[in-house]
Amino acid sequence: MITIRNISFCYPDGNRALNNVTIDVQKGSNVAVVGANGAGKSTLLALIVGLHNLMEGQIEIDGKAVGKGTLEEIRKKVGFVFQNPDDQLFMARVYDDITFGPRNFGYPPEKIKELADNALEIMKIGHLKDRAPHKLSGGEKRNVAIAAVLAMAPDVLLLDEPSSYLDPKSRRNFILAMEQLPHTKLIATHDLDLVLDLCDRVIIMNRGEVVADGAPRELFLNEKLMECSGLELPLSLQTRK
Ligand SMILES: Nc1ncnc2c1ncn2[C@@H]1O[C@H](COP(=O)(O)OP(=O)(O)OP(=O)(O)O)[C@@H](O)[C@H]1O
Ligand SMILES: [Mg+2]
Repeated sequence: MITIRNISFCYPDGNRALNNVTIDVQKGSNVAVVGANGAGKSTLLALIVGLHNLMEGQIEIDGKAVGKGTLEEIRKKVGFVFQNPDDQLFMARVYDDITFGPRNFGYPPEKIKELADNALEIMKIGHLKDRAPHKLSGGEKRNVAIAAVLAMAPDVLLLDEPSSYLDPKSRRNFILAMEQLPHTKLIATHDLDLVLDLCDRVIIMNRGEVVADGAPRELFLNEKLMECSGLELPLSLQTRK
C-alpha cells in the first residue's frame, strides 16, 4: 500500500533529515516508526503526503507516485494526524473541523453528517462537538485531530505521536479503536508499549536512516540495537525481565 524507495531529504537550511530510506507497508497492516528525537519520523510521514518536495527516491501509495500532479488524490487516500494538533485544527468549532475534510471533498450533507458522527463516536468526543478547538485540553485536541482525519475516510492513516497528551483511558480507547479500524496505519511514536499492543511490525530509525525493521518484541529485547538507537526498553518488557 505504501512503497518508499531510497528516499533522502534535506531541509532548506541544509539539515539532512533522511538518508536512503526504503520501506514497504502492506495493505491493512499496523506499522510503527520509532527512534530518538530528530531521527526523521515526522519528516518521513510529511513526505508521504507530499508536504515537502521529495529530492531523491520515490514514494507510491497504492501504485500511484506521490508528486505535484497526484497530491489531491493522495491526500484523499492518506489521512495525516500531525504531531502538534494546533497545526491541524483551525476552525471555530470542533464539529466544523471534523466536517472540514468531507465538505471539501464535496460530499452530500447526509454523508458528511454520517462520517462526522461516526468519527465522533469512535473517538468518544461527541460532548466536545460545539466547543472551540483552541480552548480544549491537549488530549481533547488530540482526539479531535484524530477524529477529523477519520471523518475523511482515508485508506491509509499516518499518525504522528498519536498517544501523546492522552490520559490512560483515552490512550486505551485509541488503541482499541485502532485495532478495530481496517486502515493501513503507519504510526510514529515514542510509546513503545503502544507499539507492543498495536503493531505487528516496527521500523527503528536513527539519524535519518532505517536501522532495523521487524517484530516489535524481538527488536525491543535487542539491548545493543536499542542503546545504539537511543531507545529504552518499554515498561511492560522491563517488569517481565
Ligand atoms: N523545518 C525544519 N528545518 C530544518 N530542519 C528540520 C526541520 N524540521 C525538522 N528538522 C530536522 O530534521 C531532522 C528530523 O526531524 P524530525 O522532526 O523528522 O524528527 P522526529 O523523529 O520526528 O523527532 P521527534 O521525536 O522529536 O518528533 C532533525 O535533525 C530536525 O532538527
Ligand atoms: Mg516528530
